Amino acid sequence: MEVIVVKNYEEMSRKAASVIEEKVNAEPDCVLGLATGGTPLGTYEQLIEGHRSRGIDYSGVTTFNLDEYVGLPRDHSQSYHTFMQEQLFSHIPFLNTYIPNGEAEDLDKECREYEALLDKEGPANIQLLGIGSNGHIGFNEPGASFEAGTHVEKLDQVTREANARFFPSLEAVPTEAVTMGIASILKSEEILLLASGANKQEAIRRLLKGEVGEMFPASALYNHKHVTLIVDEEAYGKGV
Ligand code: GLP
Repeated sequence: MEVIVVKNYEEMSRKAASVIEEKVNAEPDCVLGLATGGTPLGTYEQLIEGHRSRGIDYSGVTTFNLDEYVGLPRDHSQSYHTFMQEQLFSHIPFLNTYIPNGEAEDLDKECREYEALLDKEGPANIQLLGIGSNGHIGFNEPGASFEAGTHVEKLDQVTREANARFFPSLEAVPTEAVTMGIASILKSEEILLLASGANKQEAIRRLLKGEVGEMFPASALYNHKHVTLIVDEEAYGKGV
């Protein structure tokens, strides 16, 4: 795992965006794996700026999102469909954009089909990832199998509490999500893991200790040959 320590959120976002733009310029029909949450927001702003001011062209690019809440209507203000629409897709035209359908009647079928689509159109050339304070990636919570493809995951209490800030109450936070599994994530050619802010320091310290195990999902990234962690000074703290 290559570790790049940057000054702050702004620099992390610029760095991540420049890696993505370089890929899109070199391979105009590439596949990008996208994430939600506060972490990639600045990266998306940079991509939008690059599209507007430098004409970076995404018309051949396909995107796959990591996850979606189960049971939230697609047009709910906190669905990841809405998030992606507002933060990126309404600003940049892509060839195709895929997000798991958390409203599917048969969720197992939805998971199988999403994984099959990823196999058909992917793998992602670059997968963007944030990290949960408990080490989750996508919505793979501690204990999730490293072998799993796209599946339904029960959300940890800590995750629901962390995301409650976006909902009227803790009870309103969904209890499950459809998420790409660790095995789906590891299929990508290259992974960019982003972390910013003091609340990520403990997760980054645990990650950098290098112990691999299913109780700390992000540690699965040690099983991949091309991972870059872009971490700001606050999240890096004193390192290991
Ligand atoms: C969310 C998402 C993850 C994200 C993580 C951290 O629940 N499912 O993909 O990386 O939690 O979120 P944030 O970037 O807001 O800290």
